Amino acid sequence: MLEPQRLDAATQPFGAQSVTSAADLVRDYAYYRRAFAGQRMPFAFLDLDLFDANIRQVAERAGEKRVRVASKSVRSVWALQRILAADERFIGVMCLTAREAVYLTNRGVGDVLIGYPCSAEADVADVARATQAGGHITLMVDDLTQVERIEAVAREQNVRLPLCLDIDLSLDLPGLHFGAWRSPLRSAEQARPIVKRILASDHLALDGVMGYEAQIAGVGDNYPGQAAKNAIVRALKRRSVGMVAERRAAVVAMIRSLGGELRFVNGGGSGSMMTTRAEDAVTELTVGSAFYSPALFDNYRAIRFLPAAGFAVEIVRRPSPGRYTCLGGGYVASGAPGADRLPQPYLPPGARLDPLEGAGETQTPVSYSGAEPLAIGDPIFFRHAKAGEMCERFTRLLLVSHGQVVGEATTYRGDGQCFL
Ligand SMILES: Cc1ncc(COP(=O)(O)O)c(C=O)c1O
Repeated sequence: MLEPQRLDAATQPFGAQSVTSAADLVRDYAYYRRAFAGQRMPFAFLDLDLFDANIRQVAERAGEKRVRVASKSVRSVWALQRILAADERFIGVMCLTAREAVYLTNRGVGDVLIGYPCSAEADVADVARATQAGGHITLMVDDLTQVERIEAVAREQNVRLPLCLDIDLSLDLPGLHFGAWRSPLRSAEQARPIVKRILASDHLALDGVMGYEAQIAGVGDNYPGQAAKNAIVRALKRRSVGMVAERRAAVVAMIRSLGGELRFVNGGGSGSMMTTRAEDAVTELTVGSAFYSPALFDNYRAIRFLPAAGFAVEIVRRPSPGRYTCLGGGYVASGAPGADRLPQPYLPPGARLDPLEGAGETQTPVSYSGAEPLAIGDPIFFRHAKAGEMCERFTRLLLVSHGQVVGEATTYRGDGQCFL
């Protein structure tokens, strides 16, 4: 068996640069079966040619805006560093927790925004120490209680901690909350007292503003066989766009009127790059899922990235003609439960999960009646529904380029890290 090597993220040649045509980026079952011949299953992989093409597409789509990489959708320091090294528009990371922020800072990531509030004393103290050591970690707030808790630790540690204000950008209609339940701050007026409190503090600095329009960025609007639902979601998305821009601009104007100087105004996600980048007030976009492009991201009309990450499980049984039962594979994604949270059989095309068994803890039966001859010992390639969660199931990603395994990269789990 070929022993994959550890590669340097920034110096490993950019896969798709030497790809000559779009046809070079088309993958089939035979391609991966040949490339991964002899690898023990299950394994996860990252197709560097497709990954690099996605990185380039994100940079192009960002236009004039900078990009903050959502680490939750990558969960491998190697892959994060490869993205950050690829284009000067990629300026830093949005991560999940204080512990992760400190970990990434220690691994050399320069500008880290914690995307979700944390104000526990131990967490803030870790951030304060990393700040004193020269790191730049911004904490998220949307409530005076968090601000006061962070300030108390910052005062005790004699440091000034940068904060980012999270503004709610969901669309509230009679009987329908279209968006995520995040911040309670729905207007500039609601945010004003918190802004004043931060600006008046000797131990805090208002570093940025963030609003995440989850109902545009994180909701698919092109599900096969769901034309009516897709039409409603698209109409709601269109309705959200103007409201989101107005609310974000109003908050930024209010902060400026109080003398606040913002280093960044952050918005969006992979699914909203085009609408978020059109806002004058926004300085940077958050993007994560686009780089691996998991199965859920096939269901967006506005974007089409390449399926760069996946995993392989081994066929170990043939319980009846046309049925192939694989060992493991039950890597189900978080969120509102539904069939779209299951991993999707990817190659060979036409392979399907069993509706009564789904993807199982111990085994995953797949039905397949296509032309590819499948036997015990062969792989079935899957894509996870979400991008980063796959990495919580594997310690490493096999890196494949130009039809060969060219190395491996550890995931957070492989580094012994587990943040959320
Ligand atoms: C605060 C925030 N911003 C942006 C994103 C977008 O991430 P992605 O590009 O992976 O969809 C998310 C995803 O959950 C998020 O929570």
